[in-house]
Formats: sequence, structure tokens, C-alpha cells
Amino acid sequence: MPTFNPASPPVVLAVSGASAQPLAQRALQLLLEADVAVEMVTSRGAIGVWQAELGLRVPSEPEAQEQFWRERTGCGSGQLRCHRWNDQAAAIASGSHRTRGMVILPASMGTVGRIASGVALDLIERAADVHLKEARPLVIAPRELPWNLVHLRNLTRLAEAGARIAPPVPAWYHQPRTIEEMVDFLVIRVFDALDLELGSLNRWQGAPLGAHPTRQDRQQPSSLPPAEP
Ligand SMILES: Cc1cc2nc3c(=O)[nH]c(=O)nc-3n(C[C@H](O)[C@H](O)[C@H](O)COP(=O)(O)O)c2cc1C
Repeated sequence: MPTFNPASPPVVLAVSGASAQPLAQRALQLLLEADVAVEMVTSRGAIGVWQAELGLRVPSEPEAQEQFWRERTGCGSGQLRCHRWNDQAAAIASGSHRTRGMVILPASMGTVGRIASGVALDLIERAADVHLKEARPLVIAPRELPWNLVHLRNLTRLAEAGARIAPPVPAWYHQPRTIEEMVDFLVIRVFDALDLELGSLNRWQGAPLGAHPTRQDRQQPSSLPPAEP
């Protein structure tokens, strides 16, 4: 396995136990392909969701987990270091360890609530707490539907504390044809919030000429027959 010795500060990729685990897998793949060093932590809840949704067992031990993610993403090389879900002595648990920022994708409401109330039981919560206290970018991609008032208040609290809230909400203006294109759109837009360009996207360039009527068009007499009463 390649040694973890990144040339520039790594991105922390935290995966908690919300639905949408394929987004986390694709994010890791795009980061490694873009030569971004990754420190990864997968919560115990996320390990359970992988089992429930995909019938797959994510190992909890870091070395086995690193091998698992490399196999899943097909990225044998690239700077990746995995941490145990409750390892409070991991490098990313300290503010003295420099990072480029942290993304929680997907973020469960449990993780959101614990970070919002400053309760750092697991490594994800501690690392998020560190990013907030160090005023480093923290991007949270919450996944739940619908949101109750507690969820909304917790997310508001985190936004007030400096986190970027980037829910993985799909759009159709880029005209996706496959689920994979939709997944890429969501992942790339979430990482936009960290100012990282993770891939090519059919970004909105403005409406094509003539697509929307101008005020002048609307004032012209229409060549169409009058609408039925
Ligand atoms: C299949 C499955 C899907 C889940 N999806 C969500 C979800 O979308 N959002 C959420 O907040 N919790 C979801 N949960 C519940 C969380 O996994 C659970 O609250 C867990 O304790 C969260 O732990 P964590 O925040 O440490 O990852 C799901 C659980 C299962 C088994």
C-alpha cells in the first residue's frame, strides 16, 4: 500500500450513516484521480448502511478499509489514509494537523445534531469540531427527507458557526441521462463549496439566445392564432 506522505494538505472525507453512500464512493474516486490527498473516516452508522443498502461489509480497521475503498474505486495509487470511526487520537482530531478542509458526505441527522451541539463522541464529530474552531472549511451534505424543525435548527446553527451546508439535491438543467451523471453532478457541486474542481460538468452558461422571450418579443403581435377562450 502506498505510504501517506502528501505534498499538500489533505482533504478530510467523512462518511456518516445517511443514505447515498455511492456519493461518498464517487467523491473518493474523483479526489484520488485528481491527485488530492484524502484522510477518510467512515462512521459506524455508515458501515451499517453499506450493509443494509448494498449488502457489503466495510471493514472497520483502517488498513483493511483502505484496501476496501481502493478496490471499490479502482484507485490503487493516490494518497489515502483511513481512520477508525472512534479514533480520537488520529491526526485529524488535532487542530495542529493542517488540512485543506473537510466534507461530510453524506451527513446523517445524528452526526449533524452531535456536531451542532459540540458533542464529539466519534472521530467525525471531533474532526468537524476542529475544523470549525480552526476556521477551516467544513462542508456538510445533509441527507434526510423531510427535515424536521430539530434538523433545520441544527443545520442553521452549523451555518452560523461557519459550515457550508450543501445538500446533495439533484438538478435537471445539465440534462443528465444516467444515474452516474446525476451522481457526478451532486458530488462535483458539493466539492465546489470547498473550491475544488473535481471534474467536468455541464455547467449553466446562461439561456441560449431566443430560448426565453425578451420584453420586446412580448410586445410584438404574436403570429400564433389567439388562444381558445
Ligand atoms: C439503510 C439506512 C438508511 C439510513 N438513511 C438515513 C438518512 O438518509 N439520513 C439519516 O439521518 N439517517 C439515516 N439512517 C439512520 C442512521 O444511519 C443512524 O441514525 C445512525 O445512528 C447514524 O450514525 P452516524 O451519524 O454516526 O453515522 C439510515 C439507516 C439505515 C440503516
